[in-house]
Amino acid sequence: MTDMCRENGSLYEAPIGVFDSGVGGLTVAREIMRNLPNERIVYFGDTARVPYGSKSKDTIIRFSKQIIRFLQTQNVKAIVIACNTASALALEEVEKELDIPIIGVVKPGARVAAGVTKNGRIGVIGTESTINSHMYKQLIQEYNPDIAVYGRPCPLFVPLVEEGWLKDSVTEEVAKRYLKDLLEQDIDTLILGCTHYPLLRSLIGKIVGEQVHLVNPAYETAKELERLLEREGIANPGEKAPGKEPYRFFVSDAADKFKNFANSILPYDIETTRKINIEEY
Ligand code: DGL
Repeated sequence: MTDMCRENGSLYEAPIGVFDSGVGGLTVAREIMRNLPNERIVYFGDTARVPYGSKSKDTIIRFSKQIIRFLQTQNVKAIVIACNTASALALEEVEKELDIPIIGVVKPGARVAAGVTKNGRIGVIGTESTINSHMYKQLIQEYNPDIAVYGRPCPLFVPLVEEGWLKDSVTEEVAKRYLKDLLEQDIDTLILGCTHYPLLRSLIGKIVGEQVHLVNPAYETAKELERLLEREGIANPGEKAPGKEPYRFFVSDAADKFKNFANSILPYDIETTRKINIEEY
């Protein structure tokens, strides 16, 4: 554990650092808030450099390292990479240099999917970079090499969700087209492998039908984080300290836009979002 954390009084009360390319990772923050109510969160959304989903591995690693350096200035006790793209492309590289625990969203989603499939045929939807990395496939097949994994990039989902078109007929039409090939592969499990897709859960569920089990990596990651904090002995056993801001939000651009989106999906209204220059880290 970092010296900063030790100096900062109780290690248990140190926040969890959560980061994403922008607003999408709030679906992960939301699950952490619901499942781990004693934990504080420092969230960073890289709104100046979003989207990550079409960028190269080198760029995503560079961005992730900068964000981790920033989060460490906030004395976080653990880090969650909420972004599927950054989890797929950068986790392996950045974890080598860290002295605090870090997890991504891909592994927890892959593990649960490998466990729930009955016919051994899993679909994964995500950004282009996530699907092209084949990280979900690799991890699922580490659990069971006999499972067939079919990936499908769905790049239009991110702007549709950010437009708020969660139940719109246009989004439904787009989803039907994206999911057609996967359904033809007779999948019985589908991983919502991008931060934004849990917000389309009911629309996607309607298209794929009840026989297809939807896996939400955001939820599975919150559960994994809970186990990790227990294992490391750093879970906060008491309630969040009164007076301290329990959830703090930082972005690299467009703080007001971020705040509006956050307030539409989080279980409480956030008051302030601070803008920082991430290139300084
Ligand atoms: N947060 C990204 C992910 O989960 C989606 C948005 C982006 O492309 O940056 O992959």
